[in-house]
Amino acid sequence: MTRTPIAAGNWKMNGTNAEARALCRGLAGIDAIAGVDVVLSPSFTQLGLVWDFWCGTDVHIAGQNMHTQPSGAYTGEVSPVQLAEVADWVIVGHSERRQFFCEDDQALALKLRTAEMNGLTPILCVGESDAERENKRTANVLTRQVSIALGDDPAPDGLVVAYEPVWAIGTGKAATPDEAQSACTHIRSVLSDKLGEEVADGVRILYGGSVKPDNIADFMAQPDVDGALVGGAALDADAFLAITRAIAASG
Ligand code: 13P
Repeated sequence: MTRTPIAAGNWKMNGTNAEARALCRGLAGIDAIAGVDVVLSPSFTQLGLVWDFWCGTDVHIAGQNMHTQPSGAYTGEVSPVQLAEVADWVIVGHSERRQFFCEDDQALALKLRTAEMNGLTPILCVGESDAERENKRTANVLTRQVSIALGDDPAPDGLVVAYEPVWAIGTGKAATPDEAQSACTHIRSVLSDKLGEEVADGVRILYGGSVKPDNIADFMAQPDVDGALVGGAALDADAFLAITRAIAASG
């Protein structure tokens, strides 16, 4: 099964509109890199301009979160219907959402279904904390996170899973390629148990956590790593271009 790899940039809560525009300009030509799907995930206030900037190209735009209701009295939230006007993908369950905004596995199961109903391709983020890793609970945590988020329904269309160990995010301390491969293999085996081997084989699984231009090739050499979800380095156009080229070259 050949899986087109993904270079996804999560800009998190960074940058003004002017900076987002400058970053898009710096990424000129990224849509012409063959053999990789590019996804950019700016914050809500930047989505409209980033969506317009890449309109008519193959670059995908992702929300970093969304509510599950189509509309209503939910002050401060963004609905999937609103998001789908300026994005075609959505990140679901980033560890920062789990950690700082109390999103749990059940809530994320609902968000995965919401994404599907609104035509948004979901990137489901999973990963263990430092303490869970120390206690050798990585496999259990990943099994729980993936199983509950998927529930008993078929996989949402185009499902992507990102393995992002919490201890590797923004720390400069990336997982080793072996650790990433072992976690991604485990995730694929959980997907296989739930969805069947054929479906699991087609799901793209990304690694995220301190990905940089100089370590991406080693991750991409792993058979179950199908790309990267990049934080800090995605804010630097040259670095993200280099990462995207390396991902494309891995195929
Ligand atoms: P860093 O690449 O900054 O470690 O962030 C990873 C991440 O959280 C992407 O979603």
